[in-house]
Amino acid sequence: MRKLILAGNWKMNKGAASAAADLARGVAAEVGSVSEVDVVLCPPFTSLRPVVDAVKGTRIAVGAQNMYPEDSGAFTGEISPLDLLDCGCKYVILGHSERRTIFKETNEFINKKVICALAKGLIPIMCIGETEQERVDGKTEAVVENHLKGGLAGLTAEQVQTVVIAYEPVWAIGTGKTASPDDAQAVHKFCRDWLTAAYDQATAQAVRIQYGGSMKPDNAHDLLGQPDIDGGLIGGASLKVDSFVGIIRNSGAL
Ligand code: 13P
Repeated sequence: MRKLILAGNWKMNKGAASAAADLARGVAAEVGSVSEVDVVLCPPFTSLRPVVDAVKGTRIAVGAQNMYPEDSGAFTGEISPLDLLDCGCKYVILGHSERRTIFKETNEFINKKVICALAKGLIPIMCIGETEQERVDGKTEAVVENHLKGGLAGLTAEQVQTVVIAYEPVWAIGTGKTASPDDAQAVHKFCRDWLTAAYDQATAQAVRIQYGGSMKPDNAHDLLGQPDIDGGLIGGASLKVDSFVGIIRNSGAL
């Protein structure tokens, strides 16, 4: 049985130490001892340490939103996986659609990051998903397959089991338009079937596939109740204690 993983992607919000620590402490006060689901907070780099400190002694884990696939060197503006580990990170979000579109990240680059993160001991949360036009054009499965194939290239079955996949239809991100539970489930099932074909059934059954895109307390239960939806990657609703905790409480796992 896969444990749900509910992660807050704070994006470029709460980068100041005090605001980040307040939010993290607020979440920890409500769900810090929850063991039925994995709870992860992913603040901006500048507030990783305050958030790690704020959740110390709880079951909440911390993740970063990006990394560069080298230990150190002349990579101005980038961040090393070793420094993320030093900050206390357990997870790292890779290949978010905002990075794919705004920063032109390719499958090949994301694949390098996934391989590097695993080698260093960080758990990658690898994002995949189609744009609205791609969905309208009937290309959802082709896009998702391309992202899976490219992002996971060269990984062993054992490595893939560690990766968390986040299916985030781009048209549902920050728009208030959520994929219906049935539509989301269909894509998640497609991903799991792809993993079965590319690896094996045990591997595919072990991989956790999160849904992301306008997840809220009132739609969380139906989405997270789908057999192949194993959690959520939550943007806007993770910026307030009540809504993030509401999603966790409505997950059906507590
Ligand atoms: P929203 O929850 O704001 O739609 O964002 C989803 C997302 O991009 C999480 O990574």
